[in-house]
Amino acid sequence: MGAITDPVRIEMSDLIFATANENKVKEVQLMMPSGFAIKGLRDIGCLEELPETTGTIEGNSRQKAMYVHEKYGVDCFSEDTGLEVAALDGEPGVDTAHYSGSRDPEANIRLLLMNLRNEGNRAAQFKTVFTLIIGKNVHQFTGIVTGKIAEIPTGNMGFGYDPVFIPDGYSTTFAEMKTEEKAPISHRGKAFAAMTAFLTQNFWK
Ligand code: IMP
Repeated sequence: MGAITDPVRIEMSDLIFATANENKVKEVQLMMPSGFAIKGLRDIGCLEELPETTGTIEGNSRQKAMYVHEKYGVDCFSEDTGLEVAALDGEPGVDTAHYSGSRDPEANIRLLLMNLRNEGNRAAQFKTVFTLIIGKNVHQFTGIVTGKIAEIPTGNMGFGYDPVFIPDGYSTTFAEMKTEEKAPISHRGKAFAAMTAFLTQNFWK
C-alpha cells in the first residue's frame, strides 16, 4: 500500500497573478505576507490581452485564469471585478470596465452619475471574484464591499470608480483613501483574504 503523502506545499511566488492591471497588483502586493513578491504576466512573457467574454464576473475571472494556465502551463490566480448599482438593476456589473463604450474611467463615471441623476437610492457594491488554479483544481473566492455612489467625484487616489464609491461606515470615497487603507476593507481585499486563508490551510509552507 502506498504511503499517504502530505499535500503539495508551495510558495506564493510560485503563483502568477494573471492581470495586466498595475493598480490591482499594487493592492494585492500590499496585502501579501511580508517577504512575498507577486509574479505577473510579464514574468511568463504573456503580453496579450486576456479573454473576458463569458458575460459574468465569475465566468470572466475563471476564463482569464484558465487561459493563462492552459497556454503557459503555470499555476495562477486571476480576478474580475464589477460595480453593481441597485437603482440600475445591478448595472454596470460585468460591463463595468467599458460601461460608456470606452475604458476611460472619467467617461464611465460621467455616464454612471448621469444615469443616477435625480435618484435617491445610491446603494451599490463592488464584487470581486478571484479564481485560483492550483494543480488541476479550480477554486473561486468572492469579496463584496457595500456602499453608495457619491453625487460628485472626490479624491485622486486609487483607480476606476474609486472617486465615486463611498464604502459603508465611511464618509470618504475610496479615492480619498491611501492604498494601505482601501486595500484591506475593499472587495478585492476580502476576496484575497479568503484565498490566502485557503492557501495557508492547504498549500503554503
Ligand atoms: P476588470 O475586473 O479589470 O474587468 O475591471 C472592471 C472595472 O472595474 C474597471 O473599469 C476597473 O477600473 C473597475 N474597478 C475594478 N476594481 C476597482 C476598484 O477597486 N475600484 C474602482 N474601480 C474598480
